[in-house]
Amino acid sequence: MKITLNSGAEMPALGYGTYPLKGRAATDAVLRALELGYRLIDTAASYGNEDAVGAALRESGLPRAEVFVTTKLRGSDQGRDSTRPGLEASLTRLGLDHVDLYLIHWPMPAVGRYVESYEEMVRLQQEGLIRSVGVSNFLPEHLDAVVAATGVQPAVDQLQVSPSFPRTGLVDAVRRTGTVVQAWSPLERNTGILDHGVVTQIAARHGVTGAQVVLRWLLERGITAVPHSGNPERQRLNLDVEGFTLSPDEVAAITALDSGRSPKQDPATWEEF
Ligand SMILES: NC(=O)c1ccc[n+]([C@@H]2O[C@H](COP(=O)([O-])OP(=O)(O)OC[C@H]3O[C@@H](n4cnc5c(N)ncnc54)[C@H](OP(=O)(O)O)[C@@H]3O)[C@@H](O)[C@H]2O)c1
Repeated sequence: MKITLNSGAEMPALGYGTYPLKGRAATDAVLRALELGYRLIDTAASYGNEDAVGAALRESGLPRAEVFVTTKLRGSDQGRDSTRPGLEASLTRLGLDHVDLYLIHWPMPAVGRYVESYEEMVRLQQEGLIRSVGVSNFLPEHLDAVVAATGVQPAVDQLQVSPSFPRTGLVDAVRRTGTVVQAWSPLERNTGILDHGVVTQIAARHGVTGAQVVLRWLLERGITAVPHSGNPERQRLNLDVEGFTLSPDEVAAITALDSGRSPKQDPATWEEF
């Protein structure tokens, strides 16, 4: 399943998240993901695995146009003069001449450089080094600020969204702007949510796994996702979510697992360099 971004580019609804793998383990996992049919690979300068992802892209032998590659501007590279070198270094490590999607990893509003970074990204897009410009962990006020400066709505906002953090209001506000929401940590990095009775009952009803239910729940809400697994069977299953649909009641039951807590990494204050 693919969705069309506001840039006109088509993006797979599900991708393969590469954190925290590095080195040969990352290359092997990405190669396997590509063999299994993933066509979106999510990496970041700060993951330290862009070189390993690039090796997998080359070893796969797939035509460049068939794989959608996302990477992210790290906090220490934010700024008018450091965004371009940050992207160029990522492209060198990946062995690519352009990325499909480039995201500002965190807004870090106290640093005050995300707007100028985004302005530079729009220029880099015009030069062809970036196909779609996007952001990550941006709240509506951060989206408003970059749109006010450039007139360019981010194609994607990658946000932490999962059953404990359904973020209904935030997701709705972002989606209303035309920016596509992409969930990170959709499976909650092994917090046990996949074994919650509500999830396991729905999974049993459809004959699928808890992870498949959670990923389907995101898609039913119009949210794309980049789940990670280092395990071949779970990698395969996580991509296989198109053979069933959830009823509105099932979607609501998972949304009701909302912990009521805010995510530990609050975009208004979190700084990651
Ligand atoms: N933009 C951001 O700020 C940001 C932040 C964090 C992450 N990300 C991106 O989002 C991606 C995904 O997030 P994440 O890695 O934090 O969390 P996740 O995808 O929600 O969860 C990954 C964990 O769930 C386990 N898992 C995967 N599939 C499973 C299944 N079918 N059944 C049971 N367990 C399963 C994996 O273990 P096994 O490996 O053993 O299967 C792994 O420990 C990252 O890889 C990264 O690309 C972005």
